[in-house]
Amino acid sequence: MRFIPLDLPKFNEKQKVLDSFNGDTRFWAWKEEELVFREREFDKEVEFKPSAIKKYPELISYITEHWPFEYYVYVKLIRATEAVDPHVDGNYINYTGPTDKWNTISEKYLQHQLDTEPCGYRMILKGNRKSIYMCEEYDYSKKDWTGLQKEYVEIPKETDCFLLKTNESPHGVDSDDSERLLLFAIGYLNKEKHEQLIKKSREKYEDYMVL
Ligand SMILES: [Fe+2]
Repeated sequence: MRFIPLDLPKFNEKQKVLDSFNGDTRFWAWKEEELVFREREFDKEVEFKPSAIKKYPELISYITEHWPFEYYVYVKLIRATEAVDPHVDGNYINYTGPTDKWNTISEKYLQHQLDTEPCGYRMILKGNRKSIYMCEEYDYSKKDWTGLQKEYVEIPKETDCFLLKTNESPHGVDSDDSERLLLFAIGYLNKEKHEQLIKKSREKYEDYMVL
């Protein structure tokens, strides 16, 4: 499964997050605010920054209560400021990146991600709920994406949270005039709770799922 909305309560403090968001960090098509101290290799538990705990206490308690992580390895707020071309969210085990923003992933955590897909937890705080799309195939050598088969997903208004298949499922988003904002989190999941949540969400949002 590549996409599913999650059967979780709405997050009610969106405006406060939008008012406090500071997207100073530029990364491709995004403005970002990292809520944790990022490690170069995705593997170990990271700590929330004191500034994030102070600015976003409701958001952090919400995910602590509702998202089934044992611990996080990366959490950030992201604002797509332009259209995002198809890509996957995966990381290489060994990679020397072009900027100081690159990350690697440990063999162990990569295996955990592959075992728990879809494992990319996201929350939409603002923006078009019908502008994310999935693609069957992608080819980074292609500069022209015209004619690419896009399957648009919808995040129903009853929920703010959804799951994406992180490693092998190319996806993108159309440009959004609103000040789009998403919360992105990855980490080690409690497999049992994660599977239960998917099962429950499947019952409620079967029509929105993308296999
Ligand atoms: Fe992505």
